[in-house]
This record gives sequence, structure tokens and C-alpha cells, in this order.
Amino acid sequence: METVGFTAMADGTPEDYALLDRLESEYVKGLPDRLLAAVDALEHSLGGYQVTRREHSLQSATRARRDGRSDEYVAAALVHDIGDELAPYTHGEMVAAILRPYVEPRICWVVGHHGVFQQYFYGRQSGVDPNARDRYRDHEWFDDCAEFCELYDQNCFDPAYDSLALESFEPLMREVFAEPRFL
Ligand SMILES: [Fe+2]
Ligand SMILES: [Fe+2]
Repeated sequence: METVGFTAMADGTPEDYALLDRLESEYVKGLPDRLLAAVDALEHSLGGYQVTRREHSLQSATRARRDGRSDEYVAAALVHDIGDELAPYTHGEMVAAILRPYVEPRICWVVGHHGVFQQYFYGRQSGVDPNARDRYRDHEWFDDCAEFCELYDQNCFDPAYDSLALESFEPLMREVFAEPRFL
């Protein structure tokens, strides 16, 4: 592969950086495939639930799609937990950062905060504050995040649910992640 001439960035020429720009824009085109692969890899993530994290993600996206949510919303539902693998305490924020250039700010905020909102559904039984989400009570997207957790997250652990296949989300993923619209 063609490479730059420099060994320190400060010494790079305009031609070097033109080359890197070209290679980067080609690489970015593979993002939808990398995101789909990350969802697929959740087959071997956290255990203990009746479904894998991959199935949980498919259930979330399938329910969102069947409810007629936007493509951006369905894509966000599909990837909302891929951060589990690398950011165990901040997985929502990690995924929100991935979504931010491609998905409307409201949906990014929902994904970024879904962890604390999810506590509402299990906090009482596990000793964490179920009302921790109340710190965002006055936020314009509070209800959106509460709704996401209720309809597309806390209830998506059902082994009997007929989720759509991961492949069925490919066209939508390629569409949503084709171009950054919010840079
Ligand atoms: Fe999550
Ligand atoms: Fe989740």
C-alpha cells in the first residue's frame, strides 16, 4: 500500500495528507459493516440473561421497526449496547459518540443516557437508585429516553420473541451511516 513519507506528523507534506484523506474516506465507507459486525459479536458478550446481547439488540431494533420508528431510531436501537464490550461503565456514551455525526441529536441523547434511565426498571430489586434518572427530569428529551427504555430495552430479553434477522437491517444501516449529516 502507498504510504506517507514522514515519521513525525509535523514533517508531513500536503501530498502526504491528501493521501491520508483519500485512504480515510475509503475506510469510513466500511463503518456500516463494522457496526453490523459489532452487533454480531454480541453473541459472545455478557452472560446470564435468557438471550444473548446480540438477540437483545435485534429485539430492540425489531420492536422499534415494527412500531414505525425512523431508520435512525432503529439503527440506534440495533447498536445501543455495542459499547458493552469496551466501555462497561459508560457504554451508552460510547455509542452516542459513534452515532453523533449520523443520527439526530435527540436519539443520540437517548442512547447516551439509556443506562441511568434503565435503572428505573431494575433498581428497586438490585439496590441501585431507580429514580436516578430524575436528575434529567426537566430535560426536553427525558420522556424520549424513558420511552426507549420501557419499549425497546428493558423488555427485550424474551427468548420467545420473533426478532428479525441481523441481515434485514443491513440496508437501513448502510443508509443511516452513508454520510455524516451532523458534523
Ligand atoms: Fe445498555
Ligand atoms: Fe440494552
